[in-house]
Amino acid sequence: MPKKIYLDYASTTPVDPRVVKAMLPFFSKKFANTMSLHSFGQEAHQALEESRMAVADLMKAQPNEIIFTGSATESNNLALKGIAFANKSKGNHIIISSIEHDCIMESAKWLEKRGFEITRLAVDKYGLVNPQDVKNSIKKETILVSVMHASNEIGTIEPIEEIGKICRERGVYFHTDASQSFGKIPIDVNKMNIDLLSASSHKMYGPKGVACLFVRQGTKIEPILHGGGQESRLRSSTVNVSGIVGFAQACRICKKEMQKEGKKMTKLRDKLISKILKEIPDSYLNGHPQKRLPNNANIRFDFIEGESIILQLDLLRIAVSTGSACSSIKLEPSHVLLATGLKHEQAHGSLRVSLGRWTTEKEINYLIKVLPAIIKKLRRISPFKKND
Ligand SMILES: Cc1ncc(COP(=O)(O)O)c(C=O)c1O
Repeated sequence: MPKKIYLDYASTTPVDPRVVKAMLPFFSKKFANTMSLHSFGQEAHQALEESRMAVADLMKAQPNEIIFTGSATESNNLALKGIAFANKSKGNHIIISSIEHDCIMESAKWLEKRGFEITRLAVDKYGLVNPQDVKNSIKKETILVSVMHASNEIGTIEPIEEIGKICRERGVYFHTDASQSFGKIPIDVNKMNIDLLSASSHKMYGPKGVACLFVRQGTKIEPILHGGGQESRLRSSTVNVSGIVGFAQACRICKKEMQKEGKKMTKLRDKLISKILKEIPDSYLNGHPQKRLPNNANIRFDFIEGESIILQLDLLRIAVSTGSACSSIKLEPSHVLLATGLKHEQAHGSLRVSLGRWTTEKEINYLIKVLPAIIKKLRRISPFKKND
């Protein structure tokens, strides 16, 4: 049996040793508060601004358009609530997709209780939002459209350039949650007509507890944290310099290696998908076959529960997941899979395998080898049967 195999990179990634190396001086040597006037503070401030440039560079933004936050959850909350409250004199209507991460879904629900109107756009069987639906849903009260760049569960990449264009033409702010795509596929906030973008360091081999929100210059937005006025008054808190330095180093590495890494992962992903679909009866791919993240394979196995597959694989020291880390805890069928038209029992039988920087062909071959017997065994003891 091989040593542990980690195939849950969409949930979180290990920190790249090159990132750790860049961060180390910022714990005990260059530890100062970026707001301090002394030379220690200036040194920390300089590191912060150099980091801002590296993060901005990976999405082709201006450095002063990057606001560092503590997580993509926080960035998404700031984007939705910050735009909602700053623009409520213009209107109270917000459009999101029905497959967003829980932090968008819950922020929208919270705003709904406070008088905002939320439209949740349907998706097709691949999880794609139709830009025409965005166009048809915009009305004079619409202040924000938020559609994720790529799904954390099924890996589908949304047509955000087209959606952004529609929003720009109609004078509506466009936000995208790029937590899963940033560092994996190219992003150009100008070409894609994006006004706000969330990204998270721990999804791209940086440390946890640090993320960013790109806010296009001139955007009307209010803070949700009030205090010392750090981060252009949008995110008060003493700045997490070591984390931000790590996030920036992760961005530099992704910029250099993204293309090569993407090609390698796409090849492994496609091998995994095609072998499993061929060798395991009643198995189906969730998400779009081509418009998908290079590292995501999400497969549905009828008549069994995804959680039982995870536990069986865990006995063989292989880590995978059913979908988002949050919905795995709830044990409810994924709202994303339900939105693509799956029935409850079908949504329960899905498995997400997410590849990463250190995934090898040997690891994928091992998963391909052991999975058919596990599915067969689970189906034998499953209360659900074909033609039930
Ligand atoms: C699409 C998406 N948005 C937001 C988040 C939340 O990110 P964070 O853990 O940085 O709060 C995640 C993480 O699971 C995600 O996949």
